[in-house]
Amino acid sequence: MLTAEENERLTRVGPGTPVGKLFRHYWQPIAPMQQLRERRVMPIRLYGQDMVLFLDGKGRMGLVDDRCAHRLVKLDCARTNDAGIRCPYHGWTFDTTGQCVDQPAEPAGSTFKDRVQIGAYHVQELAGLIFAYIGPDPVPLLPHWDRLVWDDVYRVIAYAIVPCNWLQCMENTPDAIHTIYLHGEFFQTWLGEQGIPKSDPRWALASGFQKPIIKHEYGMHKYGLHRGWLIEGQSETANTWTSSSPLVFPNTHVTSGSGRHDFGWRVPIDDTHTMQVVLRSFQPGNGVKVPKQDVVPYYEMPVRDEAGNFLSLDTVNGQDFMAWTMQGEIMDRTKERLGDSDRGVIAYRQLIRDQIERVEAGMTPINVFRDPAENVQIDLPTVLDRGHAWGYAADGSYIRGSVTAADRLPEDVANEIEDLYVEAARRKNMLVEV
Ligand code: FES
Ligand SMILES: [Fe+2]
Repeated sequence: MLTAEENERLTRVGPGTPVGKLFRHYWQPIAPMQQLRERRVMPIRLYGQDMVLFLDGKGRMGLVDDRCAHRLVKLDCARTNDAGIRCPYHGWTFDTTGQCVDQPAEPAGSTFKDRVQIGAYHVQELAGLIFAYIGPDPVPLLPHWDRLVWDDVYRVIAYAIVPCNWLQCMENTPDAIHTIYLHGEFFQTWLGEQGIPKSDPRWALASGFQKPIIKHEYGMHKYGLHRGWLIEGQSETANTWTSSSPLVFPNTHVTSGSGRHDFGWRVPIDDTHTMQVVLRSFQPGNGVKVPKQDVVPYYEMPVRDEAGNFLSLDTVNGQDFMAWTMQGEIMDRTKERLGDSDRGVIAYRQLIRDQIERVEAGMTPINVFRDPAENVQIDLPTVLDRGHAWGYAADGSYIRGSVTAADRLPEDVANEIEDLYVEAARRKNMLVEV
């Protein structure tokens, strides 16, 4: 349980707030690159601040304040040209640094435009995602977490706009126990209600989650919070116990199945909206070459329809969206009742408090990288969180559909990925035909 003041301190992300200042030390994913290529101009809201992301006619990316400096038209409706983003009202144009470079109705030779700028922020592309940094100088390096720079994986980006505060989304990650009930028991109930046949791979996924967790511990990890889980039938030599898949501070989680890896962010849009971004990396192995991707495909995971029905309950992410939004817009932690099984949530809150205090003391929080040598590739453990719930079975066999069963990927993307796994399994004679 928290006091109302503590709850505010840990949840609010606007400028000048404790956690808002902490977040402004980190790069965050704001959009899939391919989505920007298609749209050219996109409104972006990060930590409650409104901006506009654009791609100019020469392929340069810009992230600038959302309003034109002239008479404050929101630039969401603007178009781009070779020079930058051009306001539709009177044609003022701003380049990727926010400098005004054209005022077509001003007299020839006017130097007015040279004295007009709008705020501009740092953006970089990596692994098919656009990352933004809107915090203080000096700008840190965009972290090269291993999942972002591996070159032998097939990547897909999934995102969702979840209408609740970021912290309740993140508190899901150091909460091992919810996986048994939400992704195991509830998932199976839902599959039964829908009359889904038992041959559907989602049943295997759900029953994998229902295996009891007999021990779970949390502690500091170099990059965040260590999560040690022991599932029934495993010994303390299991890598879920010894190696951990850490919560990467401040807002990233790592999940692995057999032959696939998810790296996910809960990005604070504002105090009551969070963008869940998941970079899914598929790694079929067995010598199967993954095709080079010029474009990383992306898709949106729907959360609710207008009537309030949850739309993605057949996916692990969608089950989480239901739980988080049903906690309220900003969960009222003055009313919660935490038990022994909530140790991970308590440890994570303490880690946030510790890092807020570092920032308040003028120090740099963890996971701010400035040394390029350290940032070539930052390796994270790869742990099968729930045994073989995703992808290959424990004996290495494969049934078509298993690795993408929980994701609701676009059909053509899922088929391309499944073909790779089927080919990999065939090479080892491990394909199970059903
Ligand atoms: S309001 Fe944008 S150019 Fe006039
Ligand atoms: Fe979950």
